[in-house]
Amino acid sequence: MLREPAADDRAALVELMASPEVHAFLGGARSREEVERALPTEPARRPGLFVVDFDGATIGIVTLDRRDPERPGRGGGAIELGYLLLPDVWGRGFAVEACAAALRWLDDVLPGEPVVLTTQTANSRSMRVATKLGFVELDRFEEFGAEQWSGIRRA
Ligand SMILES: CC(C)(COP(=O)(O)OP(=O)(O)OC[C@H]1O[C@@H](n2cnc3c(N)ncnc32)[C@H](O)[C@@H]1OP(=O)(O)O)[C@@H](O)C(=O)NCCC(=O)NCCS
Repeated sequence: MLREPAADDRAALVELMASPEVHAFLGGARSREEVERALPTEPARRPGLFVVDFDGATIGIVTLDRRDPERPGRGGGAIELGYLLLPDVWGRGFAVEACAAALRWLDDVLPGEPVVLTTQTANSRSMRVATKLGFVELDRFEEFGAEQWSGIRRA
């Protein structure tokens, strides 16, 4: 289930943000202390920020945000899909299922809006998720010392 963040998601969100495995292709994790300090007690809520809930357990987040036009690569200013799941649930199809639901939500609120996503080419799980969701290559570029792949999904 996708839902808005609640106060008792905090522990799982700290786990997610401080996990070296989750951030292996995202420039490395921040320390648990740093994440604890940075994360507000009352979670931020905005349209396009979803917690992924599986049978009452918080297992990750899916985001739809405008990509900063100052960032390298094509697709600046477009809506960008992001996804992070806790490692113990990887490989069970949750990422594809959760992202597809978020994209359906977007198709309802902003019909016709294209969506981009960016991932390191070395992040093979994430590349697979992008392909399964129907994203096609838009660009490849270097950022954070690694090759990045950006894909686009036209409505
Ligand atoms: C990317 C991520 C969300 C994928 O989650 P997931 O739940 O494993 O994804 P799914 O199970 O829905 O699908 C993964 C696909 O990768 C495949 N896969 C599983 N293990 C794999 C591996 N070791 N290498 C490559 N592909 C793998 C799965 O088989 C599946 O494809 P298939 O259904 O065709 O077999 C998860 O690994 C994650 O949170 N990573 C850290 C955060 C991140 O890198 N996010 C991407 C940047 S936005």
